[in-house]
Amino acid sequence: MPVRPTTRLSPPPPGGRRPGGGPGTRPGERPLRRATVAWLALAALLGGCTDSSKMAPLPPASARGEQLFKERCAPCHPDGGNVINRKKTLHGGVLADNGITTPSGIVARMRNPGPGMTRFDRGTIPDADARLIAEYILATYR
Ligand code: HEC
Repeated sequence: MPVRPTTRLSPPPPGGRRPGGGPGTRPGERPLRRATVAWLALAALLGGCTDSSKMAPLPPASARGEQLFKERCAPCHPDGGNVINRKKTLHGGVLADNGITTPSGIVARMRNPGPGMTRFDRGTIPDADARLIAEYILATYR
């Protein structure tokens, strides 16, 4: 996109009139330039949003995460509940109350579960799969 540095970078002089600028150039030109700058800012902002959504605390649920959850976890945690210890469900608020707010927090529970829960080591559920399960839980049971 063509940019004229002289018009874009120099601040507006006091009185709103540039020394070299003819009287005819100013009225239509200035709002147009503003709009261009605003558009660029908006584009940068939207670009930033796209990036930050990749880093969002709640990642999307994957089909594989769902399938593994149903195979491995759903027998005791149907619909994110808990058939053995009703207080320790997988719903976001409950997890947060118990100090679990991230995928790695859930993976840590699989590796080191509380009483009554099966232990899932790396041989049973590798880290990558464990993470998919954790992301599925966080995205699904809020
Ligand atoms: C044999 C039943 C059983 C299975 C299978 C099971 N869990 Fe659990 N889970 C439990 C029990 C019981 C607790 C409560 C343990 C405690 O007191 O900390 C629990 C607790 C949890 C917690 C902490 C919940 C909280 O609110 O603090 C997480 C996270 C969790 N399980 C994830 C999983 C995942 C992920 C799987 C599948 C990979 C899984 N569990 C499979 C029984 C099970």
